[in-house]
Amino acid sequence: MDIYGKYAPNLPLILNDVLTQIKAINEQHVQAGGAKLYEHLNGRVKTNDSMIEKCQRKQLPVTTESALRKNHDAIGIRIVSNFIDDVYKNVELLKKADWCDVVKEKDYIANAKPNGYRSYHLILMVTTPYEDYDGHRPGKYYVEIQLRTIAMDTWASLEHEMKYKHTVKNAAIISRELKHCADDLASCDVTMQTIRQLINRPD
Ligand code: GTP
Ligand code: MG
Repeated sequence: MDIYGKYAPNLPLILNDVLTQIKAINEQHVQAGGAKLYEHLNGRVKTNDSMIEKCQRKQLPVTTESALRKNHDAIGIRIVSNFIDDVYKNVELLKKADWCDVVKEKDYIANAKPNGYRSYHLILMVTTPYEDYDGHRPGKYYVEIQLRTIAMDTWASLEHEMKYKHTVKNAAIISRELKHCADDLASCDVTMQTIRQLINRPD
């Protein structure tokens, strides 16, 4: 079955449109004399299988409504920046953008998860030219945005990979060491931010 139903073809188009909007925000910022606000951008539409698995895990019915309305990450984008300040600047600019509304936010940078995970998460509601689940057109779709530094991204990729690999025997040691790495990387991010401020300081 296709959990996204007749809306499936819209999702990659919306992903593309939102990526274009985010690039445009950044180009404007650079043209106005600012530094580039991200190092790279990634986007994906959650696969049919992963969305079905997620609905089952969350004990939601395996329906298009669950996929598009109860879950908010059918469309997901990651904005990876060099510096912590850039992450917050991107958040600020997205909040001001007229093509979306921030409907939920979580600052896992100020409040890291107990395992050491850091990122800023936004759920956007975007208005699109396509019909949505409620039959409206222009249609509304959720998009999940994860904003992080390169250091946070490196850690999250590694942790994600380990999650599926560590055995019960060494799980505690791995978790402790991963937490250690996360905190070290966070400290480096703060130092790098300070170095940048020193470089940019007027004489
Ligand atoms: P769901 O995504 O529906 O589970 O919602 P939630 O409310 O638990 O969202 P949360 O903002 O905590 O996480 C959303 C996404 O962020 C996840 O799907 C992951 O991609 C990422 N994420 C959250 N926590 C972690 C973590 O501890 N490690 C890694 N690697 N990624 C995480
Ligand atoms: Mg989660």
